[in-house]
Amino acid sequence: MDTNNKQQITKDDTVGVLGAGSMGSGIAQIAATQKHQVVLVDLNEEVLGNAKTKLVKILNRLEEKGKLVAADVLARITFSTSVHDFKSCGIVIEAIVENIKVKQQVFTELESIVSDDCILASNTSSLSIASIASACKNAARVIGIHFFNPAPLMPLVEIIPAVQTAEETKNASRELIDGWKKVTVLTKDTPGFIVNRVARPFYGEALKIYEEGIADFATIDWAMTELGGFRMGPFTLMDYIGNDINYTVTETVFAAFYYDARYRPSFTQKRHAEAGWFGRKSGRGFFDYTEGAEQPAPNKDEELGAEIVNRIVVMLINEAADALFLNIATKEDIDLAMTKGVNYPCGLLEWADEIGLEEVLLRLEFLHAEYGDDRYRPSVLLRRLVRDNKRFYD
Ligand code: NAI
Repeated sequence: MDTNNKQQITKDDTVGVLGAGSMGSGIAQIAATQKHQVVLVDLNEEVLGNAKTKLVKILNRLEEKGKLVAADVLARITFSTSVHDFKSCGIVIEAIVENIKVKQQVFTELESIVSDDCILASNTSSLSIASIASACKNAARVIGIHFFNPAPLMPLVEIIPAVQTAEETKNASRELIDGWKKVTVLTKDTPGFIVNRVARPFYGEALKIYEEGIADFATIDWAMTELGGFRMGPFTLMDYIGNDINYTVTETVFAAFYYDARYRPSFTQKRHAEAGWFGRKSGRGFFDYTEGAEQPAPNKDEELGAEIVNRIVVMLINEAADALFLNIATKEDIDLAMTKGVNYPCGLLEWADEIGLEEVLLRLEFLHAEYGDDRYRPSVLLRRLVRDNKRFYD
């Protein structure tokens, strides 16, 4: 069956996008800007209308900056409420509600409409591509293509072949997205893929440091930005993403990893989400976003700041090392994913080499011994590299 799968997607191929929410309309914008004919489908007519209005605004702004001709890009997008309009697409990228049952139903339906060699991709952040693919007769044509929000601005795209995915599907999909001037990384179909797995300690360890009374939100954010070089502190970032969403992702990843202590969620964030303190969008999260609200001042104690940065960074490195140990992706792709997907100042494995692997292992072993919590167990790969006096990069 593999030989029937699409080998390549060219500019002549129409790109279908299912779901005209924030992700779907962003993906449609990218494909149309890249000169593909695009069919953007949403069941909800109002959502479709809003997506069009928003796209017109964005494209006009880009035209003012001399980047494109808005009318040309827009003319390439067909807005529709019927999946039957995907009939002649070379690829359909699904970006609908994050629900496995719904996605499976939709993939079964899509397969009955599109041509035999049309690639079917999902933009899911957290669901298994294998289980989505299982809804299709030809599961080899199904793949994960995971964009980051906002899709037109974020360079990273994770390419996730399922166990059933054909080599041709993987190669054609990666080539297509590379051609859209995105940075692609190849990742195994495991919970959180690369970014949403490796980034967990950025939130989890920051929350734990707060819960133990070591520092407050403002101080932790100050340390991570000013001393650690991260673009946003963990609490500002959680408020930006939304505590409801970020908490749910953590809980999903925790369950998906069979309740591994490394991914244990935090009561502090749970309570913030329950209280409706979602962050920016609700006016209040860890910080107060109402107009004129006074922002808490950080404690700029450099020693305390360094302790905070060290603890969070070694936990991030441990996660990246374990992802490499388990062959989730190559070391280059793991480092690229974190710099291009979430703007980390430096790749984590490169950072580990810079600190010194022995030092990283010592810090983790200290935490592990002090807490007696499996959460802090050092990655086997880290131990082996230290034992053999090696580094991640030569
Ligand atoms: P959204 O809620 O903004 O949009 C989803 C859209 O799908 C809605 O407009 C809804 O009307 C439509 N829809 C639902 N069921 C449908 C169906 N059966 N047929 C056609 N349209 C249908 O969601 P968002 O944020 O755009 O996310 C979409 C997908 O992208 C999800 O799988 C999500 O996990 C993933 N994702 C989201 C990111 C984010 O930051 N929001 C980042 C990366 C991936």
